[in-house]
Amino acid sequence: MRQGSHSPIGVFDSGVGGLTVLKALMSHLPHESTLYLGDTARVPYGTKSGEVVTRYSLKNAEFLLERGIKLLVVACNTASAVALPALSAALPVPVVGVIAPGARAALRRTRGGGVGVIGTPGTIRSGAYQRELEAAAGAEGVKVKARACPLFVPLAEEGWLGGDVPRLVAREYLADFARSGVDTLVLGCTHYPLLKEVIAEAVGPRVELVDSAEATAEVVASLLEEQMLLAPGGGTPAHHYFVTDVPERFVEVGARFLGRPIHAAEQVDLSF
Ligand code: DGL
Repeated sequence: MRQGSHSPIGVFDSGVGGLTVLKALMSHLPHESTLYLGDTARVPYGTKSGEVVTRYSLKNAEFLLERGIKLLVVACNTASAVALPALSAALPVPVVGVIAPGARAALRRTRGGGVGVIGTPGTIRSGAYQRELEAAAGAEGVKVKARACPLFVPLAEEGWLGGDVPRLVAREYLADFARSGVDTLVLGCTHYPLLKEVIAEAVGPRVELVDSAEATAEVVASLLEEQMLLAPGGGTPAHHYFVTDVPERFVEVGARFLGRPIHAAEQVDLSF
């Protein structure tokens, strides 16, 4: 199938989390149609090796590419952290990950050059945010403090967004961020925007939160404009959802992440 401005944007994630990125894309680019793939059979990616996540990511990208996407958004931070070079080399369409947009947005906001990053174990271990921040800061320099916060993922999926348990977890993970000169914190995982309130409370009012999802949607919008690939206005955009396990939980939990109902998701088999 030939891609053009009418073609959909492809988005993949390990599961429901990437719907926070899709939500930001829908709000910045309301005329665009999208195809979303949640690899719910193989989630989580955040605890797996880079090699395995790269293999899954290439398979996800191939599936979306066969359906005629004009651009691929790697919504999963872990996949963006470890698989972006392989995806960009393999795909004939532009590939946008969430790491560089998030890192650059943080550098625009920091006042004193202390940037914190939180994400899955795989994202933090890869050092991708740290490298991107240092490269983009150049001679000005940046002091980066990174930490994996794995318990935030199940809390967000269970809908435990406020109250004692998430507050305590956030305090345990984040209490020393504010003390260590961090003034900007990158939410480097698809799930963390749902926990913004408890995260903000734990780091205190002097630390500004940066949502990688929002920053990524802005980058996608300018890239489509630059490449004259923006969907023409006027029509009604279509949004399709694919999952690799049964769709019930995705449809139910996903509505919370997307902030609107998901009427159906199609189960597909990405055989390896
Ligand atoms: N989507 C993943 C990320 O942003 C979080 C969930 C997972 O571990 O698969 O890193």
